[in-house]
Amino acid sequence: MARAPAFVCSECGARHAKWSGRCDACGAWNTIAEEAPLSTSPGRGALGAARGRAVPLVDLAGAEPPPPRAASGLDELDRVLGGGLVPGSAVLVGGDPGIGKSTLLLQAAARFAAQGLGTVYVSGEEAAAQVQLRARRLGLGTAPVRLAAETSLRDILTTLEDVRPGLAVIDSIQTLWADTVEAAPGSVAQLRAVAHELVRFAKRTGTAVILVGHVTKEGQIAGPRVVEHMVDTVLYFEGERGHPFRILRSVKNRFGPADEIGVFEMTGAGLVEVANPSALFLSERGEAQPGAAVFAGIEGTRPVLVEFQALVAPAPPGQSRRSVVGWDAGRLAMILAVLEARCGIPFAGLDVYLNVAGGLKVSEPAADLAVAAALLSAREDVALPPETVVFGEISLSGALRPVSQTENRLKEAHKLGFTSAIAPQRSRTGAVAGITVTAFSDLAGFVGEVFGA
Ligand code: TYD
Ligand code: MG
Repeated sequence: MARAPAFVCSECGARHAKWSGRCDACGAWNTIAEEAPLSTSPGRGALGAARGRAVPLVDLAGAEPPPPRAASGLDELDRVLGGGLVPGSAVLVGGDPGIGKSTLLLQAAARFAAQGLGTVYVSGEEAAAQVQLRARRLGLGTAPVRLAAETSLRDILTTLEDVRPGLAVIDSIQTLWADTVEAAPGSVAQLRAVAHELVRFAKRTGTAVILVGHVTKEGQIAGPRVVEHMVDTVLYFEGERGHPFRILRSVKNRFGPADEIGVFEMTGAGLVEVANPSALFLSERGEAQPGAAVFAGIEGTRPVLVEFQALVAPAPPGQSRRSVVGWDAGRLAMILAVLEARCGIPFAGLDVYLNVAGGLKVSEPAADLAVAAALLSAREDVALPPETVVFGEISLSGALRPVSQTENRLKEAHKLGFTSAIAPQRSRTGAVAGITVTAFSDLAGFVGEVFGA
């Protein structure tokens, strides 16, 4: 039976019955392409009991203790992995081209190798000599990492089967091709086949596999999201161009907490770990300025202080803009609406720009109050009280909801020299010495007290 042609989105991997300009599943434009049907070998009947062999079943209780995780010694990486690399696991590291994935993984490979984990680094993008040159520049020239410059999946698997390393880094999956699939390298079909085979190899042999995937802007090359569901751990390497800070974030982890972050700084000598990200994110802060509010946040298991910066300016009639970097645009719209409806402070006719300093993306609702504080401070041109951190979730009614881990937030603030905090009432604050907490039950109360509005 001939299969109907399948149309696949190269961004998210969703299948569609027919072509269209926009993917219904993820909203991306011009990412849908026809996928060649997978050839199925002829002559195979239906699966039946007589054809397979019995799969051995193992008792839960009799299982061996799990093998220990391999730590790289790069704390920022090990923590994001959930405490180190699990043998036989498959990790996907996605990120924009040029953000520093190859640099990170070459450094990580060298560290794992130095800890005694047999490590192979397969580059499909650069020649071995180029990788060697980069390694030398990073001061890793003597690390016991074995390199291969290869794009044929069959050849790579043959080598890995032979070497049986503890870790194989594949940079990048978009450059590899499997000869069993009749599609160009980088297509959805190739990406799926390549990732599937490598993940299977990892599970079968106990080799941990790290797959690098470029986030792509156009539909010619499939993106890492297409293989997210196949791997155990998905990490994204983020950062802003022109900013030296890089954030490694776990968005899925079968072996540890998701939403954990590791912070690095890109220097002339490669990536350097940032053990105290709050100090880094606040380092560009000067005197208390109108429009700035320091948010005491929690990223994964760690408290992190970041500065929200807002700018509010008159807009041409009927053309007011809302621009956000590092925070959710929908959430900003909600906070603007609550300020207008519950506190009588309109932003109509005003341009609103909101930015998180240092290139961090904040997703905690606990940042609501810091966003509102930055917006009001910008609008009223009044600086917030100095040395003050802000946190709290805002509900549609304008009430402030308590947030988790209040004590950790306050302790981090104290560590960085802050002396007061603005927080929701009913927060469970085991009082933290050196920090005066001013608590409000709703947004209107906060606005009246701090801005006299
Ligand atoms: P790279 O790791 O090649 O990015 P990716 O693999 O994600 O495409 O990083 C490329 C950028 O990093 C490049 O713009 C130069 C910069 N870089 C440094 O600033 N310092 C360094 O030591 C290295 C190796 C790269
Ligand atoms: Mg690269």
